[in-house]
Amino acid sequence: MRIDILTLFPSMFDGFINESIIKRAIQKGCVKINIVDFRNYSHLSNNQVDDTPYGGGGGMVLRIEPLYEAIMDMKKDSPDAKVILLTPDGVPYKQKLAYDLKNEKHLILVCGHYEGFDERIRSLCDMEISIGDYVLTGGELPAMIVSDSIIRLLDGVITDSSLIAESFTDELLDYPTYTKPQEFMGMKVPDILLSGNHSEIKAWREEKRIERTKERRPDLLK
Ligand code: ADE
Repeated sequence: MRIDILTLFPSMFDGFINESIIKRAIQKGCVKINIVDFRNYSHLSNNQVDDTPYGGGGGMVLRIEPLYEAIMDMKKDSPDAKVILLTPDGVPYKQKLAYDLKNEKHLILVCGHYEGFDERIRSLCDMEISIGDYVLTGGELPAMIVSDSIIRLLDGVITDSSLIAESFTDELLDYPTYTKPQEFMGMKVPDILLSGNHSEIKAWREEKRIERTKERRPDLLK
């Protein structure tokens, strides 16, 4: 998979692409991530990318031309690339969407910034995603979150068994896990996990997933 991230703050992604699982996914060739500073596509003096809003009001608004040019450039070898705008008024992001997007060959993630963007930028995008009902300073963190959730699902990135019973894959939260020591400050590992009885452990975990979901996220059980 190829992911292009269009941003005005490319260095925000340094840690994201140079650590841990994402770094390994890139090294193994499971994903190619291209961080693109769309300021380089401006034809204005000082590579300006924003301007004052028509109709007045404060703040600066992202202009459409540099993003248009950057998107066209990214799409030149793959016109079917899916362009996604990160914005608080997009569709709420869910694990199901991560599973759908993992099947795309090429994603172009557009990070908005400043106080806003020209409304016509929406017409360049196939989809708009919000990562939650709160407003961030820009689309960079959402772009990392969306990419991370997709990359970890790609073949060869993490072992399949880790993906099978995790939260949200089937509308349930994950079961509780424990490691050594067997007892810490009076808190004990449940006996069942020490029993070696794999079918009973499996049933216990399933039961815990349901119990936890009922307790914490009853909305998921609809
Ligand atoms: N940009 C700013 N806030 C955002 C959010 N909650 N989701 C996606 N993009 C954003």
